[in-house]
Formats: sequence, structure tokens, C-alpha cells
Amino acid sequence: MTERTFMMIKPDGVQRAKVGEIIRRIEAKGYRIVAMKMLTPTPELLAQHYAEHIDKPFYPDLVTYMTSGPVVAMIGEGDEIIAGWRNMMGATDPTQALPGTIRGDLARAWDTAAIMNLVHGSDSEAAAKREIALWFD
Ligand code: TYD
Ligand code: MG
Repeated sequence: MTERTFMMIKPDGVQRAKVGEIIRRIEAKGYRIVAMKMLTPTPELLAQHYAEHIDKPFYPDLVTYMTSGPVVAMIGEGDEIIAGWRNMMGATDPTQALPGTIRGDLARAWDTAAIMNLVHGSDSEAAAKREIALWFD
């Protein structure tokens, strides 16, 4: 089933010049990028995007990380892309992410205040719908 999802290259991906490599992997998989823009997220946007995490202890560090520079925000389209992109991303914690995944291959695995893990992807159909509407007009 063709789906759309919200995909993002986070500030560490832009700062460490991984944009081309990550987009290469998306296109190699056969997914289409149907919208794309760069912006530095505001704390207000992040509070909506990460609403489920606002009360977590890591939230302040997450905001510091996510506002540290521009991100690449994308809408991706493809067959079963919501789960497929999550698989390509790998586990949240780069020390656990398997080789072959973006986080497993490219994310830094040493200790930082926030988990810097290069990419984001919506985790469900409802999240995809919500996040696409939040990040794109
Ligand atoms: P989460 O939605 O659990 O992970 P994912 O990005 O894989 O969907 O968490 C959102 C982000 O919050 C995660 O990418 C990095 C950050 N985070 C931390 O910094 N520390 C943590 O302990 C967790 C769970 C997440
Ligand atoms: Mg998540």
C-alpha cells in the first residue's frame, strides 16, 4: 500500500554532511521525496512535534540538540514507507542500532546529553498525518 510519511535529517546530519548519503539511501530504496525544505526548528514547533516526550527527563537536551541548526524536513512516499523508513533508520540509540541501518552505520555512538541519531521518521499512520500537517503547509 502506498503511504506517505514525515522524514527528517536532524541537525547532526546537516552539520556532519550526511545529507547526501541519507537521501541516497532513501532513493536507492525506491522511495520518492515529494516535498523537502530546510529550517531550524523553533522550541514551539518541537513542543508540538515531540508532545509525547515533553515531560521526559531528556526533553530539555532534546530541544537544545534539535534547535542547534537547520534540519532537512521531507515528505516521503512509497510502498509501506512508514515501517520501511523506521527499519532503515534503526534503533533510537545508536549504540543499539544494527549495521546496515542509518543510525547503525552513521550515527555517533558515544555519550552525549541528547541522543544524537541523525534522522526522524513517523512511527504510525496517525503520526505521519499529524507530522506532515505540522511541518508542511
Ligand atoms: P523516540 O520517539 O523514543 O525515538 P525515535 O526518534 O526513534 O522515534 O524519541 C525521540 C527522540 O528523543 C530520539 O530520537 C532521541 C531523543 N531521546 C533521547 O535523547 N533520550 C532518550 O532516552 C530517548 C528515549 C529519546
Ligand atoms: Mg519517535
